[in-house]
Amino acid sequence: MTGSPMTVRPWESPELTAWRRLPMHAVDRRSGGLPLDGPWRFQLLPAPDAPLSEEWTESVVPGSWTTQDTGDLPWYTNWRMPWPEFPPLSPAANPTGVYEREFTVPADWAGRRVVLHVGAAESVLMAEVNGRPVGMGKDSHLASEFDITSAVRPGAAGTVRLTVVKWSDASHIEDQDQWWHGGITRSVFLYATDPLWLADVRITAPADGRLMVDAQVRAAGGPLPEGWRVSGQMEGAGELVPDQEYAEWCAREARVSDFLGEARLRATVPDVRAWSAETPELYGLTLRLHRPDGSVADTSRHRIGFRTVEITGKDLLVNGERVFIRGVNRHDFHPLTGRTVTAGEMRADLETIKRFGFNAVRTSHYPNDPALLDLADELGLYLVDEANIESHDHAHELADDPRYLAAFTERVARMALRDKNHPSVIVWSLGNESDYGANHDAAAGWLRRYDPTRPLQYEGAAKTDWSSPEVASDILCPMYASLDEITAHAASGEQTKPLILCEYSHAMGNSNGTLADHWAAIETTPGLQGGFIWEFWDHGILQRTGDGDGPGRPAGLAGAGAYADGMTAAGYRWAYGGDFGDTPNDGAFCADGLVFPDRTPKPAMYEHREIAAPVRLSHAPSHGLPYGHDGDVRITNAQHFRDLSWLSAEWVLSSQDAATRTAPAVLPDVPPGGSADVPLPAGLLAAAAGDGGEMWLTLRVTTRDDEPWAPRGTEVCTPQVQLRRRDTPAAWPAAGAEGGAWDEDWAVIGADGLLRHPLLSSPPTLSLWRAPTDNDLLGGAADHWHRLGLDRLVREPVSVERAGGPVTVRATYPTAAGAVAHEQVFTPLSGGGLLVEETAVLPEGLADAARVGTVFETVSGLDRMEWYGQGPWETYPDRRAGGPVGHHRARMDRLFTPYLRPQESGGRSGVRDFSLLSEETGAGLTVRLDAPRQVSVTRHRASGLAAATHHDELVPLPHCVVHLDAAHRGLGTASCGPDTLPRYRLGAGTYRWSWTLRPL
Ligand code: GAL
Repeated sequence: MTGSPMTVRPWESPELTAWRRLPMHAVDRRSGGLPLDGPWRFQLLPAPDAPLSEEWTESVVPGSWTTQDTGDLPWYTNWRMPWPEFPPLSPAANPTGVYEREFTVPADWAGRRVVLHVGAAESVLMAEVNGRPVGMGKDSHLASEFDITSAVRPGAAGTVRLTVVKWSDASHIEDQDQWWHGGITRSVFLYATDPLWLADVRITAPADGRLMVDAQVRAAGGPLPEGWRVSGQMEGAGELVPDQEYAEWCAREARVSDFLGEARLRATVPDVRAWSAETPELYGLTLRLHRPDGSVADTSRHRIGFRTVEITGKDLLVNGERVFIRGVNRHDFHPLTGRTVTAGEMRADLETIKRFGFNAVRTSHYPNDPALLDLADELGLYLVDEANIESHDHAHELADDPRYLAAFTERVARMALRDKNHPSVIVWSLGNESDYGANHDAAAGWLRRYDPTRPLQYEGAAKTDWSSPEVASDILCPMYASLDEITAHAASGEQTKPLILCEYSHAMGNSNGTLADHWAAIETTPGLQGGFIWEFWDHGILQRTGDGDGPGRPAGLAGAGAYADGMTAAGYRWAYGGDFGDTPNDGAFCADGLVFPDRTPKPAMYEHREIAAPVRLSHAPSHGLPYGHDGDVRITNAQHFRDLSWLSAEWVLSSQDAATRTAPAVLPDVPPGGSADVPLPAGLLAAAAGDGGEMWLTLRVTTRDDEPWAPRGTEVCTPQVQLRRRDTPAAWPAAGAEGGAWDEDWAVIGADGLLRHPLLSSPPTLSLWRAPTDNDLLGGAADHWHRLGLDRLVREPVSVERAGGPVTVRATYPTAAGAVAHEQVFTPLSGGGLLVEETAVLPEGLADAARVGTVFETVSGLDRMEWYGQGPWETYPDRRAGGPVGHHRARMDRLFTPYLRPQESGGRSGVRDFSLLSEETGAGLTVRLDAPRQVSVTRHRASGLAAATHHDELVPLPHCVVHLDAAHRGLGTASCGPDTLPRYRLGAGTYRWSWTLRPL
């Protein structure tokens, strides 16, 4: 590429997608080769045409150089390009990594064909071996292979140099919402084949067990020799037979220098065990290429799954079943290594995904490492395999730009060529957010012809007209459509395709409100079949603070998971956009996942787990509340393919005023979709006969044996039904009945109407605000509250009336929409207790507050909370399906959820009573509420949370900040998508709530 009078700048030539790159294929060459991973000599040039220096450092392959102290740092933008150049241009300042290392081709590779495999490099890869250019390739998320036979000498040392240019014409179609990195991010190795080799293998394995295998053979030159054949062997099916039509090689001359050969084998597997996400049955298949003397020249091993995907009307069917797609979008991400993830880390991701009830992953927004596809086959996950095309900032221009035609079609084609044999891949995706143009239709045309066994989807194609059949998407896969929009479309009579949201329920910060509402609709509306939550990861990169602020790895910490619970070690923080001096950037918008950067699940994961429960529990239709001891409950198998025999269960009975009781449960033998009515656990109920208060029955379901994705005993779901309501909703300490009297040494209401109480460091006052969540900030609610002044409420005392026992305090809180009248009636109770009855009247115009409730602060030294209500995880009014009612306890620091950008956190829904106590002495306070209420107890004031940008800025208070809410606004998903539903919003008007406070 150099030395020619024609100067080629491959990084600004979109038509040049590759040079001398070998065709993509599905023959696994990962083992048996010569691995080249590890430290390479490295230098980072300021531009691709800058001269090499004498200064070599080291960089680890695979890895992102942006996380390896090279001086070039991660940069986060969502849709905008980080620099102003228009396609196909790139900026003059263009970090270019030059990697170099020695290798020795094994002597016994003499006479063989030698191939260099580079797993992934972003964004332009140029390869030289022993000073000779051997090829060039683009697409940062698929491998490039180059034939280097003529450039190496077996038995002798050689040098390979890989030059990786960070910014290029290709960056314009790799404009995904994620950190920009640079580097060789997947493994590099050499492999050797015979001069006649298996070039590709294509397996068709439908659920009826009729297997078809097409092998493609290539030769390095010369005519096809006589007598070569391909054999196949499969576990459980023995020898495969050659197809009659293709009994021998059907060779056809291609060019003089080489030719193409094909062979087809067939077998029918009797009683085949079909593959599905629930039943990931795999069969081993080995294909061999034999020389005329019968010896083996090449081998290709596969694990195949028999399954059929089809679309019938508005249904996507897997093995004939309309399966719900409980999906999540997953990026390749690691908080220490950027884009490089090991097979072990991918396994941990997918196991987590399985444990929380997901059955599908969209490989947003590019093909993943082959190891991930193997794992999805093995663990059982449906994949939407997505091509690496997102031209977001220049979407409209590039979708129709003929200069990018080859790149679009090639990226789609190479993905399908590589991944076609994976049963997990049930849908192809043409990419993401690139508008819709002729380049998409070209790619779709190729794909439809090449692989008629799978549907394809592309969100951009169906964007403007959901009913149009004439577009490059077989699935209607909108993003962030509202519940109303999707149900209206399903009811419109216009729906022609399955509706599966490619993105929904944006998981940024404290989010995923209304997920249960979505699923209630999906499970009951024909035409709605599921969706993919955006997204799995919070892309926080671990950053040293105060020491150069680069990406870092604390000594002694091996990797993600080592810092558990979503928190970082002291001296570190989770960096988001802007933290590396990256400008322009899109801030914390990359922290929008269901797991923290160390893979700790956020509370929303438990919500999903319960919504996806394979076992459902409901009241048998014949019974109403309250139950006797002889009623039935209904157990439903909500799976598509399995019975319940892989699960164990126990009954858990919890009553408000008694300890939790458990008893073994037997799951009925019900087919997928079936139900059985089973008697209530009579012995358990008899034992609990005298327990007071409301009563709940939970079926705690766990794995019976070790599963590939979870050890035996892993909790799968905890469906619950209520058996008894509160005896009297007014089970309330009538002040008079308890005969309390004010003990002025104990508690005092001052002339200002504020309570001084020995258990409290700050008196109960009205709160209408919360530290804005990301949804509140980006969706506009936070601005609304700020305009109203709810974030800086000032209390104005109006009157204090003392009538012997009760003291009535009236105050007002002025807001821009008028004053809120707040009344508190304090009544002393016997034993030092206090009843507080509150009323707040929100004026007309003060709609959509964050909360209406009480805030107070306790004394120090309380480090544990015990409560009866929903839990144990954090729950909110529109995200509380995953928190069964019961007795829960937690250390104070575990109540709080460390969302990357501090915000409202730690709430618990449906709390009936709670105690805050010292672990050491057991002393503290207990609060009982008049009704199930939203409560949060943290060591942070809302104002402190709202002011902080990262967790390392927060200093926990020594005492607790307690919020008791008469009403609390839902979370919604408005940071990207719909806000919460009207029923989770707060109107103007009168709110009443009451509570008692007692010493413990
Ligand atoms: C979508 C996009 C994703 C991500 C998400 C918001 O529009 O496809 O990549 O940006 O919005 O987090």
